[in-house]
Amino acid sequence: MASVVVGRSFASSSSCSSSSVVTSGALNSNNGAKMSVVAAARRGCSSSALLSFKSANATLTPAMLGKRRTHRRQHRAVCFARFASSSSSSERHELSPPTRKTNEFVQLSKKAAPPAPAPPSAQQLSTFEQVLYGGIALTAASVLKRELAPGCELIDGKRIAQEIREEIKEKVEKMKTITNGNTPGLAVVLVGERKDSQSYVRSKKKMCAEVGIRSEGTDLPEDATEEEVLKVVRAYNADPNIHGILVQLPMPKHINEERVLKEVSYEKDVDGFHPLNIGALSQRGREDPRFVPCTPRGCIELLKRSNVEMKGKKAVVVGRSNVVGTPAALLLQRNDATVTVVHSRTKNPEEAIRDADIVIAACGVTEYVQGSWLKPGAAVIDVGINAKDDATKKLGYRLVGDCDFESCKKVAGKMTPVPGGVGPMTIAILLQNTLEGAARSYGVSEQLGLKN
Ligand code: GUN
Repeated sequence: MASVVVGRSFASSSSCSSSSVVTSGALNSNNGAKMSVVAAARRGCSSSALLSFKSANATLTPAMLGKRRTHRRQHRAVCFARFASSSSSSERHELSPPTRKTNEFVQLSKKAAPPAPAPPSAQQLSTFEQVLYGGIALTAASVLKRELAPGCELIDGKRIAQEIREEIKEKVEKMKTITNGNTPGLAVVLVGERKDSQSYVRSKKKMCAEVGIRSEGTDLPEDATEEEVLKVVRAYNADPNIHGILVQLPMPKHINEERVLKEVSYEKDVDGFHPLNIGALSQRGREDPRFVPCTPRGCIELLKRSNVEMKGKKAVVVGRSNVVGTPAALLLQRNDATVTVVHSRTKNPEEAIRDADIVIAACGVTEYVQGSWLKPGAAVIDVGINAKDDATKKLGYRLVGDCDFESCKKVAGKMTPVPGGVGPMTIAILLQNTLEGAARSYGVSEQLGLKN
């Protein structure tokens, strides 16, 4: 049976199971099984049902048939898989070098993985970071030069992110004028010595400066205690000049990420990771979340700015991470798409994907989605950033996504490249979230044309 939730209301999962045709026994005992649930809309239960199925590893799909799952075994060379599909807090981020194997798609591989490539040098990481955020000679022209099938349009994230940053810069100027010199302020907390995290934090601060957002940071040593981190977060919570707080992830293992993220005031939670913000995202007709996680919001922005209609369309999200997959699915649903979440226990991912008008791939598996799995004309947003060995490149690798670009471009109607697609959007949206937080705090959202 396939798990089909009819309706998108929010109520307790117990009310759902009592009003729907699914039995809890089926939920508990069928990892990866497909289950049918007709959640009576009048009893209001579907959002929580979706979350219950997710935790029971059910594949949330309208209809699926059986076929092979060999493909995932071919894709184990995950190096920089950015967003794992794991939902546990300690595995929230996969920005780490290739030695961390937390991706659930990868974990499921039966054969032993080939030896992981050596972690990149600091120099490589900084180049990687620059590619991610559009800081090097990845010109629009070089992206556009890629051969696309007739009819497949490139979604140029680098250009769109630039557009967004220009809009932000203008609004920051206007805010300054109407509030007698006030500007948005972002605080970044970094714990530990990870080169990649240091590099991301530098990029975030640099982009802040470019649009006129003040940024400050606290760097704590690797052995900082949880209490020390919490103290820093509390100080920023109390600082009226700070409108956004970002705690760079992952943090050292001895620190409980969930506890720290909960401590960030939800009104300054520019990452959108606070349970109140994620909870609000999953509910309809109630207060909107103060902030939405940056990468998923960036994906939706790419779709909107590329004139991809979501209303009434079928969308598939590949991956169910807290950072991308789950919030992306909720956002698509809020935009009136009918959403299927495909994950590592999904029996026949290609069946669901083949049905989709929109695909957001965020599973962290190198070139996982194949062109032959796509519906012709589908819009494809590739969140993946993976390093693939390539002897022709100076660094010995090139960056590829979670979709096989070569085959997908022959079938997709619109598609993001990697790099130059989703990557540059994440920081642009972080800046946007910070601006919106500041505008709320100064009471000028409406004057700036921002959502309150
Ligand atoms: N590490 C990698 N990406 C992110 C992000 O978007 N937010 C935070 N806080 N940490 C990250």
